[in-house]
Amino acid sequence: MSAPSRMIAIAVEGGAGPASALQAVEIDTPVPAAGQILIRVGAAGVNRPDILQRLGFYPPPPGASATLGLEVAGEVAAIGPGPSRWQVGDRVTALLGGGGYAQYAVVDGRHALPIPAGLDAMAAASLPETVFTVFANVFEHGALKAGETLLLHGATSGIGVTAIQMAKAAGARVIATARGADKAASALKIGADLAIDTTTQDFTAEALAFGGADVILDMVGGDFAQKGLDCLKPGGRIVYIAFQAGGRVEIDLQKIMQKRLTITGSTLRPRSADEKARLAQAVEATVWPWITAGQVRTMVDRSFPLAEAAKAHAWLESGSHVGKVVLVP
Ligand SMILES: NC(=O)c1ccc[n+]([C@@H]2O[C@H](COP(=O)([O-])OP(=O)(O)OC[C@H]3O[C@@H](n4cnc5c(N)ncnc54)[C@H](OP(=O)(O)O)[C@@H]3O)[C@@H](O)[C@H]2O)c1
Repeated sequence: MSAPSRMIAIAVEGGAGPASALQAVEIDTPVPAAGQILIRVGAAGVNRPDILQRLGFYPPPPGASATLGLEVAGEVAAIGPGPSRWQVGDRVTALLGGGGYAQYAVVDGRHALPIPAGLDAMAAASLPETVFTVFANVFEHGALKAGETLLLHGATSGIGVTAIQMAKAAGARVIATARGADKAASALKIGADLAIDTTTQDFTAEALAFGGADVILDMVGGDFAQKGLDCLKPGGRIVYIAFQAGGRVEIDLQKIMQKRLTITGSTLRPRSADEKARLAQAVEATVWPWITAGQVRTMVDRSFPLAEAAKAHAWLESGSHVGKVVLVP
């Protein structure tokens, strides 16, 4: 398998803009450097951070492709100089610093994982960004253990559907919040033990009535911050991965002292190549067996042709999806 020298990729016209600014362009196919592999993209995942990047708020880290796209699945088309775990033709899924919205993508070979048996490229492309994020934040920073309770917001988001399933696979209980009765019902179907519709219910009261939470995965911030601290059990941990309702909040420090709470958070994309390689090994050891056993299922809400990336972004921004959106070149 040899790659053509030019390929189709998606660019943001003018550098930043609305979904309609996403345009298909022809660019040079990347060439894998030492330690890298070139993947012929079978499908690329679409994530909320891609929208932030399109709007100009989330620039790629140094060395990453300027093209959008944090995850792909496909076949290894070429291998850079030096030893590699991979061979041309291997089916892989990979976490990228950028460059997924294209026919070919290069990535550090250590950030690729074998596609779990039974999954096609679309399903596999929906995994890396959310699985790595949930693993790092819920299980490493949040240290969620079997028998504990995870509270998460945005239940039907790509992150939400992944976090519900991974926490259940680890033997934890899950309280999930969503905006709307239909989304709360979806959360129960996916495996949440309790689903709270925050448009009609007070999540703090409902979570406390359920026994409280040991860990909270928060992508909302704003007024959810104090409400979250209120429903944590003693020794509880709250982990921030975003702040869609506001990043500057007022909280009661006394609650943190009284209950010995931990507030933490992280981002995935700027981590070092070695750190992402470490995470990839941990994800393959812990999460891949859950996927193979069917305990964690991929949830692709909808797919769009690569050239219709603008429609994919508009769909994600409408908030109508349950699970992941993917692009197919
Ligand atoms: N830190 C990291 O490393 C990292 C990595 C990946 C993703 N993220 C972040 O994680 C979040 C989810 O990503 P995704 O790709 O899964 O996105 P997504 O599928 O687009 O989901 C976004 C979710 O946020 C919810 N939401 C937005 N504003 C809200 C508000 N004011 N109150 C309550 N809920 C609100 C939405 O609820 P509705 O459905 O009701 O609209 C939706 O469930 C994003 O904010 C993303 O930037 C962080």
